[in-house]
Amino acid sequence: MNIGIDQLSFYTPHYYLELAALAAHHKINPDKYRLGIGQERMAIAPLDEDIISMAANAAAPLLQNHSPDNIDTILFATESSVDQAKSAAVSVHRLLKLPSNCRTVELKQACYSATAALQLACAYIARHPKRKVLILASDIARYDLDGPAEPTQGAAAIAMLISADPRLVTIEPISGLYSEDIMDFWRPNYRKTPLVDGKYSALAYLKALEHAWHDYQHNGGDDYATHTAFCYHLPFNKMGIKAHAHLARINQCHADENALTAGLLYSRETGNSYTASLYASLASLLDNRNDLAGKRIGLFSYGSGCTGEYFTATISHDYQTHRRGDQHRALLAARQAIDYPTYLRYWHAVEGNSNLTLPRDNPAPYRLAAIENHCRRYDTP
Ligand code: HMG
Repeated sequence: MNIGIDQLSFYTPHYYLELAALAAHHKINPDKYRLGIGQERMAIAPLDEDIISMAANAAAPLLQNHSPDNIDTILFATESSVDQAKSAAVSVHRLLKLPSNCRTVELKQACYSATAALQLACAYIARHPKRKVLILASDIARYDLDGPAEPTQGAAAIAMLISADPRLVTIEPISGLYSEDIMDFWRPNYRKTPLVDGKYSALAYLKALEHAWHDYQHNGGDDYATHTAFCYHLPFNKMGIKAHAHLARINQCHADENALTAGLLYSRETGNSYTASLYASLASLLDNRNDLAGKRIGLFSYGSGCTGEYFTATISHDYQTHRRGDQHRALLAARQAIDYPTYLRYWHAVEGNSNLTLPRDNPAPYRLAAIENHCRRYDTP
């Protein structure tokens, strides 16, 4: 039985900051961002957008033509959690009006946890082939102002329906794993922004890729040459380009840029989206290449701290009918640029307020409308 991603929907907030504007503020050459880290823009969430509204906005299009009756599990991957106890999954469950006979859980391991959700969902579907699992990955990547990581902020969400006989991609059973307790990037509960050792984190990412690849081979994985395209976790695009060159080097192969570039298009526009990043790259790849039917692709998921996983997927023969390229391109095209002062206002966001009413800034169907007595209230369509 084939199991994998039946539907995939990408969402990013309505606003972005041109990295050229950030470079101008810092009085540095904009090529450092454009060429040096490979980024053009970073998505900025307005005050009335949070990980829950983003996830609901990603998931709603999937449910338009789909009966929710057989979705009995929602797995929400994030590292921008808004609550230490209650999962964001149960909030989205209510916003989307899903049936009450459903389990709702939040998962965390930095940027990796959506891949944990995917593997758990595939194992669950193997036992319950008639069920579907809704995976949500939603994050607002935020770093200290004026620090080296500031240009690698961003925001996006992904919603995926996992099922038997998937219409988009089949997840293959073999994968390679690597975990090591390191301090490359972490965010203690009392901090709004992470602590990060940027250069070390990039080396840790490459080390995890190398070990996960070797474990994939050890477990019976196929040769590098059988992979037509690759998706990587993309904290910034240059990291994906370096990872791709590293993997090719390990396999003594030439790093074919064509195998990578279509998967970089969305993240160049959004910046890092932590848990959503790898699957935003997958959406970007599927939407922007027409020659993938029946082909195998490789995916590398990395979460600081750290866990890495290398796994593969095969693309369905009619993926072009089921991908959502028009939806995704329209969303990106409709966005608005904001200036540096507006970016600062959004950056100093609402956390810590127990009572707050938010004027509409976010034009998406779901938005955070208020916080009343510590409870989040959302506007729904
Ligand atoms: P930096 O130290 O300011 O940058 O920050 P730099 O001086 O190293 O320059 C970056 C690149 O730009 C260099 O190229 C320069 O040569 C080039 P490289 O040597 O890397 O190939 N450059 C230029 N190129 C063209 N024209 C110019 C120019 N000037 C310079 N004029 C750093 C870079 C990535 C360290 C910083 O942005 C950072 O700390 N980012 C956050 C950490 C991060 O993203 N790490 C990635 C791996 S860890 C990960 O992926 C997990 C994560 O997503 C979190 C999670 O798991 O939850 C982060």
